Amino acid sequence: MLAPLKTLANECRARHAGLGAFNVIHLENAETIVGAAEQAELPVVLQISENAVKFHHGDLEPLALATLAIARRSSARVGVHLDHAQDLALIRQAIGLGFTSVMYDGSHLPEEENRATTAQVAHWAHDAGVTIEAELGEVGGKDGAHAPGVRTSPEEASRFVADTDVDLLAVAIGSSHAMTTRDARIDLDLIRALASAVPVPLVLHGSSGVSDENMRLAIRAGMTKINVSTHLNKVFTDTVKVTLADRPEVVDSRKWTGPANEAMLQEVARLLTQYQAA
Ligand code: G3H
Ligand code: ZN
Repeated sequence: MLAPLKTLANECRARHAGLGAFNVIHLENAETIVGAAEQAELPVVLQISENAVKFHHGDLEPLALATLAIARRSSARVGVHLDHAQDLALIRQAIGLGFTSVMYDGSHLPEEENRATTAQVAHWAHDAGVTIEAELGEVGGKDGAHAPGVRTSPEEASRFVADTDVDLLAVAIGSSHAMTTRDARIDLDLIRALASAVPVPLVLHGSSGVSDENMRLAIRAGMTKINVSTHLNKVFTDTVKVTLADRPEVVDSRKWTGPANEAMLQEVARLLTQYQAA
């Protein structure tokens, strides 16, 4: 069933657990991630990024309607989230389609501009009963170049949340997007300082680069929504490579997507369970 992101994230924050948020690029990803949440008997977030919309020729609706239908039919509690959106028209469209949450990503802008636009988007979202996530301190790697050096200041983060009324805040604590190795160095003291300064759940972007052990420590220190994409793409694609190497005669795409979906499902279920044990 669909569930408000704010509710799911606040519940996890209260019990010091992580909430897994996984990116949907194709329809099968939504089926797989929801299957994993049902297996693990835990809530989950399906997120569609502005980049994924660009991949689908700029058309949000087909993938969004399928993702929303999969979420509604599930026995698990599922948030459907628009990820890393800079396009305000896309945000309005997602709110209209029934997304439970949207992320306005103004982290690349000067802080005053990020603050003003985030406050405006928060107003639209709240008017529609939709949760809003924003980002302060740009988490690197969105353009393919790793930049783990940026850090969010706890004082600025606390002011930003008060001024904008956002429900979740993405912060820069050392992770970087699109890492294919799990050796990011994260700043646990900064997570603790942010968690006590900021009254809303914190979001970790670029979680693919964080090891299982560091993720446990990050959640214990105060991270709540855990965004993972590249790691699952890697699990999926590695399985495709092995399947096709073993069976080069295969032509039916179900024969190689099937095992890859199953490998991804088991990894999502494992991650969701691990996020509880912080
Ligand atoms: O918003 C999405 C996440 O931050 C995913 O990052 O691909 O590095 O796991 P990742
Ligand atoms: Zn991200």
